Amino acid sequence: MLQSKSFECQISVFFLSSICLSAFICLQCDSKTRTESEAARFARFARVTFKEVYPSLAEQILNDYMIHEGLCLDIGCGPGFLSIEIAKQSNLKIIGLDIDPEAVLLAENFIKQAHLENQIKVEQGDVHQLPFADETFDLIISRGSFLFWENLPKAFREINRVLKPGGVAFIGGGMGRAMTPGKKAAIKLKVEQAGFLNQCSRLITPVMMQEILESLNIQDFKIMGDRTGDSGRRCGLWVEIQKNQKRQPDTSDEHHVKSIKSDKVF
Ligand SMILES: C[S@@+](CC[C@H](N)C(=O)[O-])C[C@H]1O[C@@H](n2cnc3c(N)ncnc32)[C@H](O)[C@@H]1O
Repeated sequence: MLQSKSFECQISVFFLSSICLSAFICLQCDSKTRTESEAARFARFARVTFKEVYPSLAEQILNDYMIHEGLCLDIGCGPGFLSIEIAKQSNLKIIGLDIDPEAVLLAENFIKQAHLENQIKVEQGDVHQLPFADETFDLIISRGSFLFWENLPKAFREINRVLKPGGVAFIGGGMGRAMTPGKKAAIKLKVEQAGFLNQCSRLITPVMMQEILESLNIQDFKIMGDRTGDSGRRCGLWVEIQKNQKRQPDTSDEHHVKSIKSDKVF
């Protein structure tokens, strides 16, 4: 009798501790989900949802501007997926820049997984104060970041400063021309449902963008949407800056000095 009581007691202790253990595991899981950084949440989401967007957008940029070598800057690179696709499809050396240290770490990881460490480097930095010399980059890209920039005139002045004469900057948000309207609508819905659109409640219209660029005296810019002929009102908003001077093979000493500068990074 005494023996069976102690057995019952053991069973109860066993069940109680199992319940406590399960509750503890649940709490741990929950706090892990809750503490996932925004950068990690975006990376997890973008990796799946924008899977087709990055390769086709990279192809579009490279085909449109025919810049396949030299130095490229990806501003607000996040997890680095667009940089990775540009690297796979060109000989460009790429610097990914992001203000969020967590995004920098994530990008470094994805770049390592893709074995592209020799082609892409990532740095923490702010578009409002780019840590680069004047006229450093042949191509500057940025996707999905400008709505988060606090001071667009300051940011675009910096972009124009570090862009080489003859270089191109392609800055904006959207999914590129290759994605069908149906696919775009489905992706947009997922982005809305995941709450990513709430994070940037700003509305930047093509007219506002035009005024900013004109106030900076930036010439040779175009504002467009994802679709050909679309000025950016309905589908994406992109700014293209083709800095004066046509691209020509550059054999000057100056080019040599700049190559040495970029060699330091890579
Ligand atoms: C929506 S994510 C887009 C990431 C990536 N371009 C993509 O398309 O997958 C926006 C990124 O811009 C970065 N960002 C925001 N403000 C920035 C700033 N002032 N300078 C540099 N990066 C910034 C954020 O940290 C974030 O990683």
